[in-house]
Amino acid sequence: MLDWSDTETTTAVAPAAATLTTALRPQTQFKLEPVDPTGLGAIDRAGGRVSVDEKRMINCRADVNQLLPLKYKWAWEKYLSGCNNHWMPTEVSMQADIALWKSRDGLTEDERRAIKRNLGFFAASESLVANNIVLAIYRHLTNPECRQYLLRQAFEEAVHTHTFQYIVESLGLDEGELFNMYREVPSITDKAAWALKHTQHLDDSSFETGTPDNDRAFLRDLVAFYVVFEGMWFYTGFAQILSLGRRNKMVGIAEQYQYILRDESIHLNFGIDVINQIKIENPHLWTAEYQDQIRGMIREAAELEAAYGRDTMPRGFLGLNAALCEQYMHFIANRRCAQIGLAPVFADVENPFPWMSEAMDLKKEKNFFETRVIEYQNGGVLSWD
Ligand SMILES: [Fe+2]
Ligand SMILES: [Fe+2]
Repeated sequence: MLDWSDTETTTAVAPAAATLTTALRPQTQFKLEPVDPTGLGAIDRAGGRVSVDEKRMINCRADVNQLLPLKYKWAWEKYLSGCNNHWMPTEVSMQADIALWKSRDGLTEDERRAIKRNLGFFAASESLVANNIVLAIYRHLTNPECRQYLLRQAFEEAVHTHTFQYIVESLGLDEGELFNMYREVPSITDKAAWALKHTQHLDDSSFETGTPDNDRAFLRDLVAFYVVFEGMWFYTGFAQILSLGRRNKMVGIAEQYQYILRDESIHLNFGIDVINQIKIENPHLWTAEYQDQIRGMIREAAELEAAYGRDTMPRGFLGLNAALCEQYMHFIANRRCAQIGLAPVFADVENPFPWMSEAMDLKKEKNFFETRVIEYQNGGVLSWD
């Protein structure tokens, strides 16, 4: 069975070790004249054609507009997987959710509080992640196949934001309350502010990669958004909603979260592959001191998530509570550390939500929930059995 809790299992398209090692070439082999890595510079009419060996993740001086020849096939395959997983929130029926939400005693006050805060967290977070892709990451990632994936990811983040608009509209929720939670609910604001501080300087037009300090700042932003935001914080949110769904509550939202989770697991794995590839090409960045910094970031992020868990689930419900969510975050944090080659930050703990593996299996859930689902092609590179 797939172990979704660690999400590596979705990486049927992860880069093979051989791909990574052959990608490494010393910078001195560059033959091209420096060009603007953003792709917005003047066209080099006399420039040579790009060869595979000239491509780099960051600080590349080869033409960013030449997708072919492909160097990082894992990035291209993730782009194809994303396209094959296309879905729209409006194709999921909300009838059962509307009936339950409007019923007097279908949900406890604790469940309503958790659902609203969960939706509020995701509603703004999808937008924060999209901003980071478009305004920071895209500019500095100097590889066309990775940029191709980023364009797909940016669209998927728009679909996810659309999901929250659709939920708010369907349930008749207070849109101002939900979309302002990231500013008005401290446990959500703290997370958004923590992530944003790693992005703000990248958006500065004078910021450029190319020095060890700035390259490390760029890597920190990748960790903050791909590893922490999408790879850790989203997972408590998925567990909350899927826990309701497996008990036949808010099944429409639960189904939408399954589709979001499928997308996010590819986003996460793309980010991990990008980080690992940058490390391979720039081993001087990954010092012991820097690794400690990154581990500190992951530890801090887990603590912020524990505070969010206490805030959203002060009493616990349906087998979920803040203590279990904190344990889950420790489990996930250690997995993420392993995925980017870091020592664990917490003592070894068991996954307290082994049911997440089953709850995330879309095919099973379709039968379980008996909701209307359009059968999308899952794609040849992802197995959902
Ligand atoms: Fe998303
Ligand atoms: Fe995402």
